[in-house]
Amino acid sequence: MPTRPYVIDEMISAKSIAARIEHMCHDIRAEFSDTDKLIVVGLLRGSFVFIADLVRELDLPIEVDFLEASSYGDGMESSREVRILKDLRGAIEGRDVLVVEDIVDTGHTLHHVTSLLRSRGPARLKTAALLDKPTRREVDLRADFTGFDIPDEFVVGYGIDFAQRNRNLPFIGKVRFTGDA
Ligand code: IMP
Repeated sequence: MPTRPYVIDEMISAKSIAARIEHMCHDIRAEFSDTDKLIVVGLLRGSFVFIADLVRELDLPIEVDFLEASSYGDGMESSREVRILKDLRGAIEGRDVLVVEDIVDTGHTLHHVTSLLRSRGPARLKTAALLDKPTRREVDLRADFTGFDIPDEFVVGYGIDFAQRNRNLPFIGKVRFTGDA
């Protein structure tokens, strides 16, 4: 549970998110229109709302799987050391894979996960991220499909949490502290 009082200022509306996902799916469909062996892999837990909207907009024959990697814990700083807490249920060798991430921040999580999945021999591996904080990057990577570039702010909502709270907000908002602990 967060220990300091805070408010959430809306940054990206639910309507803007929906419009942007529609565009992203247009590009993703173009990339994968030739395949019937696509697995969409959601990174838990932050991507669960994004992936739900993304796959319903995608209109391709897909399978869905999930992988959970450790990242922020309950704080606001990336741990940098990435551990796999829950692995995929299925094999991806010879399959096409789209990894779906909520936010690319330092880049360590996506780098670790894509290196791991590449070692399993997928036919093609692409990445989609709803949000990107390019100024925070420590690993040189960029998702193949990105929703919005945002400034270095701590954000919540649309699946994304602050100490496990606020995942159920329909929009993306930034956390603004209003007092001391
Ligand atoms: P990275 O490994 O530093 O790129 O961190 C990626 C993960 O950190 C994301 O999947 C999120 O779970 C978490 N994260 C990064 N920025 C934020 C934020 O602003 N709010 C909440 N979680 C975040």
